[in-house]
Amino acid sequence: MINEQYLAMLSNKSVIRELSEYATRRGKEVGYENVFDFSLGNPSVPVPDSFNESIEKLLKEEEPVKLHGYSPSLGIPEVKEKVAASLTERFGIPYTGNLIFPTSGAAGAIAHALRAVTKPGDEVLVFAPYFPEYVPYINTTGARIKVVPADMENFQINFDAAEEAMTENVAAVLINTPNNPSGVLYSVETLEKLALLLKKKSAEYGHNIFLISDEPYREIIFDGCKAPYPAAFYDHTLVCYSFSKSLSIPGERIGYVAVNPTCEQAENLVPMMGQISRGIGHNCPSSVIMLAMAENVDKTADLSVYETNMNLFYNLFVELGFKVVRPGGTFYIMPKALEEDDVMFCKKALQYDLVFVPAGGFGAPGHFRIAYCTDTEKVERALPRIRQFVEECYPNR
Ligand SMILES: Cc1ncc(COP(=O)(O)O)c(C=O)c1O
Repeated sequence: MINEQYLAMLSNKSVIRELSEYATRRGKEVGYENVFDFSLGNPSVPVPDSFNESIEKLLKEEEPVKLHGYSPSLGIPEVKEKVAASLTERFGIPYTGNLIFPTSGAAGAIAHALRAVTKPGDEVLVFAPYFPEYVPYINTTGARIKVVPADMENFQINFDAAEEAMTENVAAVLINTPNNPSGVLYSVETLEKLALLLKKKSAEYGHNIFLISDEPYREIIFDGCKAPYPAAFYDHTLVCYSFSKSLSIPGERIGYVAVNPTCEQAENLVPMMGQISRGIGHNCPSSVIMLAMAENVDKTADLSVYETNMNLFYNLFVELGFKVVRPGGTFYIMPKALEEDDVMFCKKALQYDLVFVPAGGFGAPGHFRIAYCTDTEKVERALPRIRQFVEECYPNR
């Protein structure tokens, strides 16, 4: 018999993908440069030269078996050591290589982290606004997603709702800062309050509630800020990282789980993830990519375009009278729509070839998300179009 759960998922097509497909079709009609497609979070900046050079050098100089043979099932030790040393240097936490598990991007990292610290029937708490892929990420493990409604004022955590939702069945909390879709960076105060709540509830229920921190946008931070590192606030934290955005290589599928040295069962969690890999057929990322990543672990692509684009959008939305929280990082911004129905708002925008994503699916109804991982030239050309759309459709806003 076929699996009904996955069959049912076929009818739940991603709104973002559908919009992006629409934009591609429309592009064929009017020219892609005339469609202002801000739907998909696909990085647009070039990969750093050093990453390509590492691959070329490895292909020329490294032993074929090291490059193309099976790697150890928990990842290449020297790669894990380099990641650990980098994290220790940057965040002051004494990671060691045995606490690092290389994965296929953040998606692979979250798949392993979730399975390592939950069992079927458990609940995983997520704070709105949230990345909609968390629904399949969590629900296909046998655990269940439980969404805490957003703090609509500033998109930090709604702690009253969080306290109520953190019942005994909650095994883990999955956070994402800086956040897709809001662009908001959780403050030190938010992370301290979250750690206190997790400690309180863990003590009350007699089991540790794990924190899974999804950080693919960690390096895209604005205004010269230093982003607080969630693992520094709470012992039982598993960091899920991805180089998709920082090195602009989402197609290479590379990231890792970093287990806090203070985490319950810290020394067993990475070997457990090796066992999870056996079950889900993930195995290690490609050896060439792991080795090239290790040589570039502290590098990033030139990410400055995202801050330039953010400022252009933010300033326009403020000027046009939108309610909007200024992003602290990522390449997303999520203003409040000019009518209650965010789907209707985005449909009207489509008439102007502006492709925005209604944020109801992110747990922020009444808002819309813009992904500005495009050339600044395209953003600049979109601004007068947005002004025209708003002035014509919402003259009395
Ligand atoms: C919040 C969030 N988590 C996880 C992912 C998955 O990242 P990756 O491509 O590294 O698997 C994404 C991708 O856009 C994301 O936005």
